[in-house]
Order: sequence, then structure tokens, then C-alpha cells
Amino acid sequence: MSIMDVTFVKGFVRLCNDGWLQGWHERNGGNLSYRIKPEEVEEVRPYFNEPSEWKEIGTTVPGLANEYFMVTGSGKYFRNVILDPADTSCIIELDDKGENYRVLWGLVNGGRPTSELPSHLMNHEVKKAASGGTHRVIYHAHTTNTIALTFVLPLTDEVFTRELWEMATECPVVFPSGVGVVGWMVPGGRDIAVATSELMKKYDVAVWAHHGMFASGPDFDLTFGLMHTVEKSAEILVKVMSMSPVKLQTITPQNFRDLAEDFKVELPEKFLYEKN
Ligand code: 13P
Ligand code: ZN
Repeated sequence: MSIMDVTFVKGFVRLCNDGWLQGWHERNGGNLSYRIKPEEVEEVRPYFNEPSEWKEIGTTVPGLANEYFMVTGSGKYFRNVILDPADTSCIIELDDKGENYRVLWGLVNGGRPTSELPSHLMNHEVKKAASGGTHRVIYHAHTTNTIALTFVLPLTDEVFTRELWEMATECPVVFPSGVGVVGWMVPGGRDIAVATSELMKKYDVAVWAHHGMFASGPDFDLTFGLMHTVEKSAEILVKVMSMSPVKLQTITPQNFRDLAEDFKVELPEKFLYEKN
């Protein structure tokens, strides 16, 4: 047995490699975190090392006190995770106030958890509450087409959601609550974490203008699938906009309402506005 035989560790590593293969993780771009279930903590506990010193998270997440996370390391490359998970990722524990963390496993050659740890943990805290504890994965990727769109579309939740929904019939079923958009901000700190987690109260996806995306979900498949679906839709939109300044036909607001009824999803009316 090794820690690599543990199911959630395999899922974590596989997602990193899948994201790399999609081209979303140039150099050290992107990061991933997983909120470990109590029974899974017991599976990996035999592999823990001497704990590191407690260090400040950079924000406060009391809703995650005493929880354990698997997280990618700062400056580590997604393309290397499959080769050496113990160098490129870590398992951390939070203290009883949700103010500090310590490393229990991984980062064997030094380093620290992702610089986006405040955003990951604030998103986890919001999604844990909003999903009744089912959401466990937060994934940040530098998704090429979605980033490209942040230069040409108005940076509003309404426009991004509607344009992405129109590009593929399945989209409103996969992300019925829509996507949120954060205007350009300095990454890696508490301010962008607060802005993103505010959007995560309503959405499972947040777009960071000129930077990338955050997605949240209950497991690795659903979270990767969500990121993949949004980014594929963005790719279609980039192609459509490259071919023509106007669409000759599209999915209409009434089409969306019909779809919502048959697929038993609720689509907020604010995204079904009439266009000129
Ligand atoms: P890290 O290497 O610190 O995870 O940062 C990568 C990134 O995408 C920052 O937004
Ligand atoms: Zn990034």
C-alpha cells in the first residue's frame, strides 16, 4: 500500500493531469484543492509526517475549522503532479479557529500550498454551507477561451451566462445557476478571495477577468466536467465571433424556458433577457 492507492489521491492526481492535457496549466498556472472526508483522513493518516509549524492562511474560515485538505503547491507545475505528487502537492490541516494551517504530508522538497489558498478556502467555506456539505472540490484553471472572452464581452454575470448557455444546448442543464464574473483584481490575496466567494454563494463557476476560472463541485468528475463544459462553450463562442459579428440564429429565451421545463432545472429569468 502507498498513499497513491487511496481513491481521493488518485482522483486528485488524475484531475491535475487531465487539466494539463487540456492546455489550461502553462508553467505553474492553476491550482486544486479537495476537502477530505473524515473517513478518508484515517486512510491517509498513516502516511503523515511530523507536522510543520502553524502558518497564517491569510484569511479566516471558521466554517472549516479542523478540516483537512489536499492542495497543490505554489509554483508547482500541474504537468508534474502525476510524476511526483509528494513534491507537487500536500495535505494540510486547519486549526480550531480556521485561521492557520499546517502541512502534514507532501511538499517533500519544500514550498507552500498554492498562493490562491485564501480563495480556495473561502470558496470551500461558502460552498460547504450552500451545498449542505456535499461540495468538496475547488479547481482554478487558466482556461484559454474563457480568458479570451473577458477582453471582448462586458464583464457581467448576465452576459457571460447567456452567451455561454447559447453555445451548447446542454450548458443550462450543466450550470443552471449561471456563472459569475470578477473584474480584474490582484490574484493571491484576501480581496479577490472575498469577491470570488461572494459569487460562489450563487454560482458554481466564477470567471476571473484576464486570468481564468474557479469551479466548485461535489467530486473530481463533476468539477472537471463543469470546467470543461464552460470552457468548451467559450471555445465555440470564440469561433462564432471569429466567423461573424452576428449570429444568424441561436437558442432563444423561449427555447431555454422549454428546455428548463423538460430537464427540470430552474433558469433565473435575469439571464433570459431580450436582446436588441
Ligand atoms: P500557484 O502556483 O501559487 O498555485 O499560482 C498559480 C496561479 O494560477 C495563481 O493564480
Ligand atoms: Zn491563476
